[in-house]
Amino acid sequence: LAGNDRYVLISSSARSDGDTMIVCKYLSKNKDWPIIDLCTLNISHYDYQHKNEHDDFIPLITNLVQNYDHLIFLTPIYWYTMSGMLKVFLDRISDLLTIRKDLGRSLKGKSMSVISVGNENNVLDGYLQSFPHSAEYLDMIYHGDVHIQVKNKEISEEGIFALDQFVNKTVV
Ligand SMILES: Cc1cc2nc3c(=O)[nH]c(=O)nc-3n(C[C@H](O)[C@H](O)[C@H](O)COP(=O)(O)O)c2cc1C
Repeated sequence: LAGNDRYVLISSSARSDGDTMIVCKYLSKNKDWPIIDLCTLNISHYDYQHKNEHDDFIPLITNLVQNYDHLIFLTPIYWYTMSGMLKVFLDRISDLLTIRKDLGRSLKGKSMSVISVGNENNVLDGYLQSFPHSAEYLDMIYHGDVHIQVKNKEISEEGIFALDQFVNKTVV
């Protein structure tokens, strides 16, 4: 990664003022990275007929491919894995393999990573395993994932440490 790569934080929590946003804001403040909050957008489930092609997904992904090199997905742990909102976003990337192949091609060579957020410190083995595979499928570079514990609206001490380390590893 070059020093002038453009980073963006993509929050997939079901609320805009929750624990995931606390982590987004910490990174945004320290690194000056913009935040995109999926729960303020209208992105519906994948649809084989593409009846939803005029919702907020295509404008969002257009913005992402045009303006950023590295996508950092932030997800709360919901039912032991990523949020439904993030899964829907990933499902919609299938639009880029069909109706918008031009956008799909422009994901190639970009990179991504994932930060999960929860009140507990433990997560299941392989809970984000689909991400490295998806990145590979899309010819994107995967920079890994990290879990961050937020307790009583504060990032845990270990969380701050892990986050700083993760950022240093990701941002060259
Ligand atoms: C629908 C739902 C499912 C959840 N499932 C889990 C879970 O499986 N394991 C866990 O430790 N916490 C679970 N939680 C708690 C959240 O992971 C935790 O409160 C997280 O910090 C919430 O982030 P948010 O405020 O951005 O939504 C769940 C919360 C919700 C709303």
